[in-house]
Amino acid sequence: MSKLTGSKKATQFTESVIREMTRLNDLHGGVNLSQGFPDFPAPAAIKEAACEAINADVNQYAVTWGARPLRDAIAREFTRRYGLPIVPDQQVTVCCGSTEAMMSTMMAIIDPGDEVVVFEPFYENYGPDAILSGATPRYVTLREPGWSFDPDELAAAFNDRTKAIIINTPNNPTGKVFTRDELETIATLCRKWDAIAISDEIYEHIIYDGHQHIPIATIEGMADRTVTINGLSKTYSVTGWRVGWTISPPSLTGAIRKVHDFLTVGAAAPLQEAGAVALGLPDEYYTKLAAEYRRRRDVLVEILERHHFVCYTPAGAYYIMTDISGFGFSDDVTFARHLVKDIGVGTVPGSSFYKNSANGRTKIRFCFCKKDATLAEADRRLARLMVVQ
Ligand SMILES: Cc1ncc(COP(=O)(O)O)c(C=O)c1O
Repeated sequence: MSKLTGSKKATQFTESVIREMTRLNDLHGGVNLSQGFPDFPAPAAIKEAACEAINADVNQYAVTWGARPLRDAIAREFTRRYGLPIVPDQQVTVCCGSTEAMMSTMMAIIDPGDEVVVFEPFYENYGPDAILSGATPRYVTLREPGWSFDPDELAAAFNDRTKAIIINTPNNPTGKVFTRDELETIATLCRKWDAIAISDEIYEHIIYDGHQHIPIATIEGMADRTVTINGLSKTYSVTGWRVGWTISPPSLTGAIRKVHDFLTVGAAAPLQEAGAVALGLPDEYYTKLAAEYRRRRDVLVEILERHHFVCYTPAGAYYIMTDISGFGFSDDVTFARHLVKDIGVGTVPGSSFYKNSANGRTKIRFCFCKKDATLAEADRRLARLMVVQ
């Protein structure tokens, strides 16, 4: 047999559906409500800081695990917000986005045969992350409308092979914000089975209606078994800068840093300088960010409901999961293709967030990290949609 083929690992997962939808969207001149990137500007102060860093010739490799000002700022802000002391030299590793932070963490902690518990619907990267790191994923379903889990189902997913659980709060695609009770349940299982929590908190500041973000690292007994993952992308509207990080217990940091070093060496040096400035923005910045996204959420929910989508209103993050049963399509992928080709609105089919795609067959995800004009244009286009009822 020819050796001119991809590896077994690479054939076990498909191309990113979200990026494919974005490409289809561009091809058909659609309004892109699929991939979660803002179409409005980033804060001027951080753009200026990036330009200043380049003009000051911050052009060479930063320290592989991250420039000191950024690591210090990450540790300082986490401690200030959540009261947990973080030692930047021993616990913070800056990566090329939280995508690389997640992959470096998984590669650093997983051995073949290890199991990783993943909630579904999940952010689509977690599947390939598990396959590439050699983990066997065990899925536990979050069920609408509240997107909670059954504690017995979760308990049944843990065993002595469980190395880690991936949590994402606020959650993509559901908008769920994990409660303290839910995190306590997860923490109890992590302690019982000596498992690590990998907590993707990239939507930390995008949270609504009085919900509170609780990092699982702050739950009793979890600081030394949690890797917290975060980044600049969503909080500062700079998804293309590719700056993210891990906060890990010192016992895991060495392994994460080694993998990170040989995968990417380091994130863009001038953008790390600007990242330190970003993390120093005053608290009003975060309050305004959440208020502005809440307003956009309400705008899109109103539009979608008017066009006969059933919306699961998110408590955080910037996506809306919807039910499309009323449109009479056989499945979510056919419907998403119809939306982008014939109506001109890009979305993500629900099945791409589930291991068992049947669970997502009646769902479509929209994102609302967009200008008012973009949402208004989507509204105009969706008016052409026919409901079969
Ligand atoms: C839950 C989640 N984690 C990570 C990422 C990617 O973040 P980054 O741009 O830092 O790689 C995304 C982007 O959509 C996301 O939704």
